[in-house]
Amino acid sequence: MSRGGFPAGFLWGAATAAHQVEGGNVNCDCWALEHARPSLFAEPSGDAADQYHRFAEDIAIVADLGLNAYRFSIEWARIEPEPGRISTAALDHYRRCVEACRARDVAPVLTFHHFTQPRWMARLGGVGAADFPARFADYCGHAARALDGMALACTINELNLPVLAGRYFQDRAAPEARLAAERALGAPLSSFFLFAEESAILGNGLAAHAAARQAIRAERPGVAIGMTLALSEEAAEAGAESRRDTRRERLYAPFLDAARNDDFIGVQTYSRTVSRANGDAGPADGARLTTMGWEDRPEALGEVCRWICGRWPTPLIVTENGYPGDDDRRRGAFIATAVDGLASAITGGADVRGYFYWSLLDNFEWLFGFRQRFGLVGVDRTTQRRTIKPSADVLRTLARANA
Ligand code: BGC
Repeated sequence: MSRGGFPAGFLWGAATAAHQVEGGNVNCDCWALEHARPSLFAEPSGDAADQYHRFAEDIAIVADLGLNAYRFSIEWARIEPEPGRISTAALDHYRRCVEACRARDVAPVLTFHHFTQPRWMARLGGVGAADFPARFADYCGHAARALDGMALACTINELNLPVLAGRYFQDRAAPEARLAAERALGAPLSSFFLFAEESAILGNGLAAHAAARQAIRAERPGVAIGMTLALSEEAAEAGAESRRDTRRERLYAPFLDAARNDDFIGVQTYSRTVSRANGDAGPADGARLTTMGWEDRPEALGEVCRWICGRWPTPLIVTENGYPGDDDRRRGAFIATAVDGLASAITGGADVRGYFYWSLLDNFEWLFGFRQRFGLVGVDRTTQRRTIKPSADVLRTLARANA
């Protein structure tokens, strides 16, 4: 254990997801939704950050920032463009990404499903389809066999997010946009992961995680496997404690219970949600908000880790934590405070093995498009030129000192 409370071998990293950075991900369901008219999405992902071609440059940046790990996702829609047809070329591409990490002593942390899926899987119903767990596990097995050298595997990113989001995204969309989306998908909106039904997530979603874990473990017995979860700090106004507890039991507990056989839980914490006596839940009154409208609350991370470790013994890895906004000085302060809270949680007994900042790059923030910026590194939308922001130095200093 080092002076600031971080264990030896602690992973310091940054994270991205394929669809948000690669560009040209034309065969996935999200691309279809982006091009529906009218669209639920603010703009299409297009070339995104062109990471499909610039991965070596990006991995070099990770290494130059003194980080020892990089979390990225592999794209099912590229690897299995049609049911049962595995693309060797796509697997070769991701093998080169893994090798580029290893060549720079950066541990590659792979996510197998980060919200997107092949269009054919959406047409079959997505996570709601009876054979989703088997099909997903089959793809995971192929990928794990091909990708020697991964350090950790995350099966499904934020499996609980559709439960947490409820009907937030669908309900704010105009009926024409919903209809256009269903036409583009060739399936009900619920076949897109972010809009999936709670029952499908709790049934097939959890089953798919377990099946994927088994498939990856069979190919790569030494690799630690887990899922990542969207975990808000849950707080309550006086008199609303039972509402807060109900949220915790519904939104998080079933997933944390299911992670008991995993090697780690991926903690993804951005902010805090306050339950109110009138039934609402949202940012604290008068709180400073980020551009996403979330409470600017870096302390949330330590609080969440403390809450989990009191009840669930599985080791934790912070697979995402970040600040959306254009004030990069504030981003640096956010990182420092979040990591400080994490150090206190570790001192208090939480078994935390890594911290990944979201995101390495400014990227495609799903329905909100490119306007929301989380990156340590800015990306020029015309030239794709990368510019390292000062907040990256804050993370570099913490990572270098492991303290
Ligand atoms: C997701 C990322 C997303 C980030 C910020 C997480 O829910 O895993 O894909 O960009 O939060 O909204």
